[in-house]
Amino acid sequence: MDISIVMIRNSFLLISCFVFFSLGFLEAQKTPAIYVFGDSLVDVGNNNHLTLSLVKAILPYYGIDFPTKKPTGRFSNGKNAADLIAEKIGLATSPPYLSLVSKINFNKKNVSFLHGVNFASGGAGIFNGTDPTIRQSISLTKQVDYYSQVHEKLTQQTEASTLQKHLSKSIFAIVIGSNDIFGYYNSMDLQKKNTPQQYVDSMTSSLKIQLQRLYNNGARKFEIVGVGPIGCCPISRLKNKTECFSQTNLLSIKYNKGLQSMLKEWKLENKDLISYSYFDSFAALQDIIQNSISYGFKDVKDACCGLGELNAQFFCTPVSSLCANRQDHIFWDPVHPTEAAMRIFVDRLYNGPSKYTFPINMEQLVAI
Ligand SMILES: *[C@@H]1O[C@H](CO)[C@@H](O)[C@H](O)[C@H]1NC(C)=O
Ligand SMILES: *[C@@H]1O[C@H](CO)[C@@H](O)[C@H](O)[C@H]1NC(C)=O
Ligand SMILES: *[C@@H]1O[C@H](CO)[C@@H](O)[C@H](O)[C@H]1NC(C)=O
Repeated sequence: MDISIVMIRNSFLLISCFVFFSLGFLEAQKTPAIYVFGDSLVDVGNNNHLTLSLVKAILPYYGIDFPTKKPTGRFSNGKNAADLIAEKIGLATSPPYLSLVSKINFNKKNVSFLHGVNFASGGAGIFNGTDPTIRQSISLTKQVDYYSQVHEKLTQQTEASTLQKHLSKSIFAIVIGSNDIFGYYNSMDLQKKNTPQQYVDSMTSSLKIQLQRLYNNGARKFEIVGVGPIGCCPISRLKNKTECFSQTNLLSIKYNKGLQSMLKEWKLENKDLISYSYFDSFAALQDIIQNSISYGFKDVKDACCGLGELNAQFFCTPVSSLCANRQDHIFWDPVHPTEAAMRIFVDRLYNGPSKYTFPINMEQLVAI
């Protein structure tokens, strides 16, 4: 073979490699870290550190499809939304805050908060005590208190303009609200004291206060997830002969509407210095349920792991009945989606059309 052709070919390969790696490098530079706040949809192990909490995913069959095949505190058969969002932008999953500050780690390791931190906690809500039976969760207010402590530490460790740049490029992901919505219809007291509209209004105004605290401590890019049609999860279907429980869904819709107008207003109040992407998980899950076959799901109603009617009368434990195919179920346990369903959500969240995510999607948020 003509030697010059070989050389050209080799240099072409080299150039492609170079371009590939430098693009990868730039991509990684764009988002230095993800800071995650929220509930069990994104908890990666904080609740494992709460001794009194009953909301823990530490027993099989949780984690059965996780790379380690072991329960990790994620409320999923495998990876959850926090893992999959990090994967999308080529970052490692942000570690749970309570694992970073636990005594053992704090003495042993040189803990850095610059690679992202996850503050999310199963059972958490925007309100402090969403449900007295699961009181042992880290409420959103507390999560933001923890972030303020992290910010203080970073301020001591990092030069001001470097830190400001780091935080303004980082993604602040917030997945919360479902437990507050569940809480309303589980409490006669809340229903007596608030109309549905009053209740969702106080959810959005409380959330706004926490968002502003994050902004005051350097956050600029926000990924905000609305509440899904949680009236369609197996535990809610028990209330309506296996059909979706409309009341819960209607309250979610009301809240999501309020959330969207709050975000618009909040951005204007901060002179457009904020960027956010809102993900309409309601529309996304509804689409998956309505077109389940085309997504490869055969079962939209039952929990894969549980007991009783719809496998939804008891939580997932080692004595639960486990479905034959975890890929063809939308729901893993009575309230949480399978990894398979979560992957579709996160695809939509990342670069979905404006039907699901607006005013921009996460890919565009990252690129700003
Ligand atoms: C801790 O990490 C920082 C940067 O990541 C480094 O500058 C510092 O020297 C490390 N300290 C120790 C004791 O390893
Ligand atoms: C939660 O409790 C803290 C004090 O512990 C309070 O400042 C905050 O307003 C409460 N948040 C909500 C949403 O009730
Ligand atoms: C039960 O499901 C049916 C069919 O989807 C719906 O029309 C009805 O409003 C639901 N009832 C309640 C109480 O959720």
